[in-house]
Amino acid sequence: MSSSNRVILITGAAHRIGATTAKTLHAVGYNIVLHYRSSSSGAEALADELNSHRENSVALVQGDLHLTERLPQIIEGAHSVWGRLDGLINNASTFYPTPLDEITEAHWDDLIGTNLKAPLFLTKAAAPYLKESQGSVVSIVDIHAERPLREHPVYSIAKAGLVMMTKSMAAELGPEIRVNAVAPGAILWPENDMDDNTKTRILDRTFLKRQGEAQNIADAVLFLLRDAHYTTGHILTVDGGRSLNS
Ligand SMILES: NC(=O)c1ccc[n+]([C@@H]2O[C@H](COP(=O)([O-])OP(=O)(O)OC[C@H]3O[C@@H](n4cnc5c(N)ncnc54)[C@H](OP(=O)(O)O)[C@@H]3O)[C@@H](O)[C@H]2O)c1
Repeated sequence: MSSSNRVILITGAAHRIGATTAKTLHAVGYNIVLHYRSSSSGAEALADELNSHRENSVALVQGDLHLTERLPQIIEGAHSVWGRLDGLINNASTFYPTPLDEITEAHWDDLIGTNLKAPLFLTKAAAPYLKESQGSVVSIVDIHAERPLREHPVYSIAKAGLVMMTKSMAAELGPEIRVNAVAPGAILWPENDMDDNTKTRILDRTFLKRQGEAQNIADAVLFLLRDAHYTTGHILTVDGGRSLNS
């Protein structure tokens, strides 16, 4: 699929992996609809930067992904900018520990809401447009969808659901729409930080003995979106070999 004039919506794209993905897709010619919730200044700065490279190539859409009834408006908003939609990247997420004896319904609603429910309802709303454009969905899952992350059961359950959503949607939306996912390992440390011993222990368990970069995820997204013409329902792991290490 050639990227020129094609339109990709990326959720949670003001910072970090979403922002690097936006820059990467933009650099090869895609028009980007940057979704954000609260990071308006980050999203505006990124849109200004990219629009200065190519005029009228990046638009913004704001919204809280917990408001399920408003998700179709996000898709409509993205489609209306250039009259088409070619890709949906489900990147937005929340991530924090939920030890079993401390789990609340609010944790469940938040973690399942951002990591699973919103991607499903966004995909549902985008499907008619993606069908028209023979487009594609790429969700960002996690290696901990397969191997539970200690003290993060709700997050792990949510990402496991997103893996199955990817496979189910591949079955539901073919042959017109391909649906895939990228499963990152240790790429960017969580913003609520982590002690140095834990970081060293995690990196020791990779075969490549180093941390990944947001660019590695963005490159995987680009591959699935643009180049992987005969690939659907696939989870592409980008973790330096960590998930193979016992
Ligand atoms: N970082 C890693 O090493 C790593 C590892 C494994 C998997 N992943 C996955 O890769 C993706 C990107 O990771 P990241 O660390 O770059 O993400 P992040 O910074 O934790 O979150 C990305 C964005 O999600 C948005 N978001 C959160 N709750 C939302 C809501 N209710 N409605 C709308 N937007 C919401 C936020 O937007 P605003 O700031 O605008 O509010 C936030 O900037 C995620 O899916 C994550 O699970 C990352």
